[in-house]
Amino acid sequence: MSFYQEIHRLCNGLDVSLLINNVGIMPFGNFCQTPCEQETGVIDVNVMPFVMLSRLFLPQFLERKAQKGKMSGIVNVSSAFQKGYLRMCITYCASKAFMAYLSGGMAFQLRGRVDVLDHAPSATASNLIPEAKPWARFLTTAQDCAKQGLNALGQAEFTAGGIFHDFQYRFCCFLNEFYLGLGSSVLTPVF
Ligand SMILES: NC(=O)c1ccc[n+]([C@@H]2O[C@H](COP(=O)([O-])OP(=O)(O)OC[C@H]3O[C@@H](n4cnc5c(N)ncnc54)[C@H](OP(=O)(O)O)[C@@H]3O)[C@@H](O)[C@H]2O)c1
Repeated sequence: MSFYQEIHRLCNGLDVSLLINNVGIMPFGNFCQTPCEQETGVIDVNVMPFVMLSRLFLPQFLERKAQKGKMSGIVNVSSAFQKGYLRMCITYCASKAFMAYLSGGMAFQLRGRVDVLDHAPSATASNLIPEAKPWARFLTTAQDCAKQGLNALGQAEFTAGGIFHDFQYRFCCFLNEFYLGLGSSVLTPVF
């Protein structure tokens, strides 16, 4: 708690108008066999900063709107995997589903006062999955991914991103429905 309060305190006096909840980790492993610290680590990194920083910055964003008439924004970087269960990282998927749900709730509650966006990207070239590095040139760049999210802020409360990420998000949704219908784990054939 004090860690997040310290971040908020360091921004004291600044006219902060945008909070991007981007931090995330995606460790792989069978949920029944991974060290407990790996699973709690996913919650500590993917969920807690998102909840705490949103909660701490929101009052001043509301104040900003009330006093100066200026909109502020929160971008919550979740994932297309909010819509499925990757067998080897179900806590990651759950953390992103949590983000999506709370982001939607905040957007609903704050409509017209603070812009809240759930940005649910798909495969992007980054350090998230070191094993994916050789495929980086086939993926959306991190810069393009960020631009696509920011372009949607104030226009929508959810975006998958650009056309490729939109397609991948819809594909995840389709696989989710398909495999759940079959009583199987989503995307298992891929990972
Ligand atoms: N890459 C994808 O394909 C993809 C797809 C969907 C969603 N996302 C989401 O996009 C977001 C950004 O991920 P990315 O792809 O850009 O991965 P990344 O290159 O690994 O970046 C992750 C960021 O999180 C920070 N971070 C990780 N663990 C931390 C910790 N314990 N304490 C403080 N900071 C920590 C990293 O800081 P350092 O730079 O200091 O290490 C880095 O800035 C994540 O929420 C991820 O779930 C990514």
